[in-house]
Amino acid sequence: MWLKLVDVLACPTCLGELTCVADETSESGEIEKGSLKCQQCGKTYPIKHGIPRFVPEDNYAASFGYQWNRFRSQQIDSVNGTDISKKRFYSETGWTTDWLHGKWILDGGCGAGRFLDIASKNDCEVVGIDISTATDAARATLIERKNVHLVQGSIYEMPFRPQAFDGCYSIGSVHEAGRQDQALARNRDIDAILLSPDKCLVSSPATQPSVCFRDSRGQLCKRAGAVIEATL
Ligand SMILES: C[S@@+](CC[C@H](N)C(=O)[O-])C[C@H]1O[C@@H](n2cnc3c(N)ncnc32)[C@H](O)[C@@H]1O
Ligand SMILES: [Zn+2]
Repeated sequence: MWLKLVDVLACPTCLGELTCVADETSESGEIEKGSLKCQQCGKTYPIKHGIPRFVPEDNYAASFGYQWNRFRSQQIDSVNGTDISKKRFYSETGWTTDWLHGKWILDGGCGAGRFLDIASKNDCEVVGIDISTATDAARATLIERKNVHLVQGSIYEMPFRPQAFDGCYSIGSVHEAGRQDQALARNRDIDAILLSPDKCLVSSPATQPSVCFRDSRGQLCKRAGAVIEATL
């Protein structure tokens, strides 16, 4: 865990400030082992294998952890020489490399990190949160990238400060009975951590239209490809 991650972290229970204690640091300066203590409620969260853990390691998504650690490189463009994830990332987010410059971006449900791989090729800081140990797979693949940060936690109990992020995407990770719009509407945590409400999108290939986001007035919209189909 790079120390600069603490700038955007907060206690998921009370949003209090966290103080970091490093027990082991790697040669490159990453905190490998330690803890984060909430200054407000006193809760302590461990940092293990370089990743802060805000949820019990064995939770309902443990099978995702198994899957992504077993097949961690299959979908990573940088490893397999394709541009499948790159095309999907830019077409679904609608973001440009110019816009990403200097931003803090959150990947909600990052899995093995196929979209972290794409986003972090830009000059921006990218945080991947996943409830499973998929975070460990993503870290193993992207360990050389100093602008990639990983957090094991839930997107329904965000361990981040209000307005910490310029943008958030969640691709293929939220399936509220197939309704990403409901997921986005329910998840007020996402609004809280964003600087601007229109910089969030949730998408799932399983449903049409596939992308759900907020417009500049904060209203929920759906988009298939580049076409806005309906405002909810
Ligand atoms: C189908 S995978 C997609 C991963 C990645 N976005 C991709 O496209 O390769 C869904 C991921 O969502 C994660 N997930 C499920 N519920 C979550 C929650 N409440 N908070 C954070 N991650 C969650 C799972 O652990 C899993 O890694
Ligand atoms: Zn707290």
